[in-house]
Amino acid sequence: MRVAFIGDIVGSHGRDMLKAHLKNLRKEYEIDFVVANYENASHGFGLTVKNANEIVSYGVDCMSGGNHTWDKKDVEALFNTHEILRPHNYPDEVKGTGCKVYEVAEEKLGVLNLMGHYSMPYVDNAFRKAKESVEMLHAKGVKNIFIDFHAEATSEKRALMMLLQGSVSAIIGTHTHVSTDDFQIVQGTAYMSDIGLTGCRDNIIGMDNATPIKQFLTGIKGHFDIPKKCKKILQIAIMDFKDGKCEGAFKLKVFDDGAVLRTDAWVER
Ligand code: FE2
Repeated sequence: MRVAFIGDIVGSHGRDMLKAHLKNLRKEYEIDFVVANYENASHGFGLTVKNANEIVSYGVDCMSGGNHTWDKKDVEALFNTHEILRPHNYPDEVKGTGCKVYEVAEEKLGVLNLMGHYSMPYVDNAFRKAKESVEMLHAKGVKNIFIDFHAEATSEKRALMMLLQGSVSAIIGTHTHVSTDDFQIVQGTAYMSDIGLTGCRDNIIGMDNATPIKQFLTGIKGHFDIPKKCKKILQIAIMDFKDGKCEGAFKLKVFDDGAVLRTDAWVER
C-alpha cells in the first residue's frame, strides 16, 4: 500500500495548498491513503466542522491531532462524524481515540497519533502508550502501522524511533512546523523528526511575524495570526508499506508556483 502523510495544515493557506494539489498528487503518485494533521487547520488553532469537510473533500482520509485539538469546540462532534484522531496518550476518559485501523489496498493499516511531553499538556506517558498500542495492534494482526508523533523535542522523537524501529512502518514527527532533513528507513521503519507545515513558508512557523517578534522582544504574549498573504508550501511524505515494513519512501515539497522538490529517504543497511 502507498500511504502519504501531510503534517500541520496551518490555516486557510494550508487548506488552499491541499485544494490546489492533493488530488493531482494522489493520482500522479498512485497514493492509496492520506493522513494529515488538522490541529492548526482553522485559523491556526483547532478544527471547525466546515474546514474538516473541506479537508476531506480535498482527498484526506484520516486526520491526526495534537495539543491544539481542543481549541475549537467543534472537535467534540467531529469525533462522531469524521475520521479524526486526538493524541492516544490523553487519559482514557477524554473523548475520542488516537488509534484507528483501516482497510487499505487489501491490507490493514493502523494509524496511531501520540503527543510528546516537553512543553506539552500533562498526558499519559507517550512511550509506554506507544509500546502498549503497537503490541495491541500486532495482536490484532495489524502489521502496517503509521505513527504521527506530535512533539516539540527531537530527542523524544528519536527515542520513540529507537524504541519502535523494526516494529512499525513509519514514525513521522509534527508540531514544530519546521521540516528536518533526516528522512530515513531503518529496519523497515521510516522516520523523520518533523515533516514541516503545509501553509505559509515565508514567516514564523506559518504565522504573521508581528506578534511573535513583539513577544520575543518584550516578553509579552499576544495572539498569533495567519498572514493575509504569503508564499506557500505543501509538504508530503509518500511511503510504500508491505507486511508491516516500509520498503521505500520520499518526501515532496510542493511550492505555490508549481515547483516540486523531491528527497528520497535514506535506507540504512
Ligand atoms: Fe502542536
